[in-house]
Amino acid sequence: MKKVLVLHYSQSGQLTEILKSLTSGMNANNVELEFVDIRPKNKFPFPWKGDSFFEQMPESVLGKPCELDEITTRHDQYDLIILGYQVWFLNPSVPFNSFLQSDKARTLLNNTPVVTVAGVRNMWVMAQEKIKNELLKIGARLVGNIILEDKNPNLISVVTIQHWLFTAKKSRFLGFFPLPGVSQEDIDGAKRFGTTIEEALLTDDCNNLQEKLVKQNAVRIVDTIVFVEKRATTLFGIWANLIEKKGTTPKKKKLWLRVFNYYLLFAIFIISPIVILLYSIGRLFFLGKVKKEKLYYQGVKLK
Ligand SMILES: Cc1cc2nc3c(=O)[nH]c(=O)nc-3n(C[C@H](O)[C@H](O)[C@H](O)COP(=O)(O)O)c2cc1C
Repeated sequence: MKKVLVLHYSQSGQLTEILKSLTSGMNANNVELEFVDIRPKNKFPFPWKGDSFFEQMPESVLGKPCELDEITTRHDQYDLIILGYQVWFLNPSVPFNSFLQSDKARTLLNNTPVVTVAGVRNMWVMAQEKIKNELLKIGARLVGNIILEDKNPNLISVVTIQHWLFTAKKSRFLGFFPLPGVSQEDIDGAKRFGTTIEEALLTDDCNNLQEKLVKQNAVRIVDTIVFVEKRATTLFGIWANLIEKKGTTPKKKKLWLRVFNYYLLFAIFIISPIVILLYSIGRLFFLGKVKKEKLYYQGVKLK
């Protein structure tokens, strides 16, 4: 019997549903499954309100941890740990990052095979790089990564996720936009990854697990989005530090977060389509590099 721990945090329950679907692909006769929630001491609001939502930008970007309830698990050691996470402002979400920085993460994950599973909008590549780095520091062995995302066009998914996060209703914005978040078909289809993970566990061979998962379309890389995301990550770093420096009182901080809010709307709806257009033309001259980068981001190794 293999012991598998599934650790995650989810506000809407989407990530919980993804992990339940994934683990339904495992046979209960072979695998002892344990689900444990990451619980922030002070709950994050859901639905979000404008100010509290943008307050998470500097916190996520600068990797500031929040306090968590104590995490208790049945065992001290597992054959595999599945870490479910979501991305906030291009970084691991505050609750997930807080777990990664905790002593509990060090004791649980050290020397243990780990599979990361994300339920995101569509910008997750740089957050995953940070997670790879943290896991390496802790001494965990990342053997798999599965990304479930909103596959609608970028700007559409921005509009629909706002509706979802600010109303807590995973419904069609204005009645005609596509549904927000990860599609039900993709959530249900995550079961196949569970079966593949179980096979690797039972044969004690996780070495080629990620290759098998990628063959099952576990990770989709859209290079235009990655291009935008990388630039945005640098800019978010600058904004986060600026807000920290200028926001010396709650009033000033609120003001700077408002400025960031308007900047973000401008960047998403005006700058990013231009950047994507120019990049789409330019990339024709370096297709080899694009392909190499895609393979790298689909993998679990760290550069
Ligand atoms: C504050 C905040 C920032 C977010 N930023 C991103 C992001 O940068 N990239 C992304 O792909 N998704 C982003 N999302 C979407 C989340 O990754 C996630 O898909 C969604 O919040 C549902 O997660 P849940 O399972 O916790 O409900 C963000 C969500 C929140 C609440």
